[in-house]
Amino acid sequence: MERYERIFFWFSAAVLGLLLCCLAYITLFMDIHLPGHGGRIMPKDGQPLATAVLVTPPFNHPGIHEIGPGRYEAAVLAMQWIFFPRKIEVPAGSEVTFRVTSTDVIHGFFIPGTRVNMMAVPGYVTVETYRFRHPGNYLLLCHEYCGRQHQTMWGEVIVK
Ligand code: CUA
Repeated sequence: MERYERIFFWFSAAVLGLLLCCLAYITLFMDIHLPGHGGRIMPKDGQPLATAVLVTPPFNHPGIHEIGPGRYEAAVLAMQWIFFPRKIEVPAGSEVTFRVTSTDVIHGFFIPGTRVNMMAVPGYVTVETYRFRHPGNYLLLCHEYCGRQHQTMWGEVIVK
């Protein structure tokens, strides 16, 4: 092998190895991973998707539900151009499992300052769990362009 070829080979291998180590580190020690898949919502014959979503649990009762001591489940609907519910209130230290879907187009579901960063896809349920350790008002943003009023689509997680 030529000398430069050898240098290039080992340099590329080192970069690849370093990136794999970073990936392993954030997965194992920082708990950063892809959002989970919580199933599909299939419309029955001729039923519009929005109707199917609105009658399927837990989205027939969107909101925050306590599922155990310090543990909550938030069923959130994303639709043009609101999150429903818009405000989610939990005590500090709570672990919240977000179950999110959309009734119309693809929306984003992003809480800056946390690792909650997912998509709300029509007919699919996306799931992510996060522990809110510190009190504060966390902004919830749609970060996927979803039409004319996209920039007005926001919500809030209030941690007390
Ligand atoms: Cu919903 Cu952008």
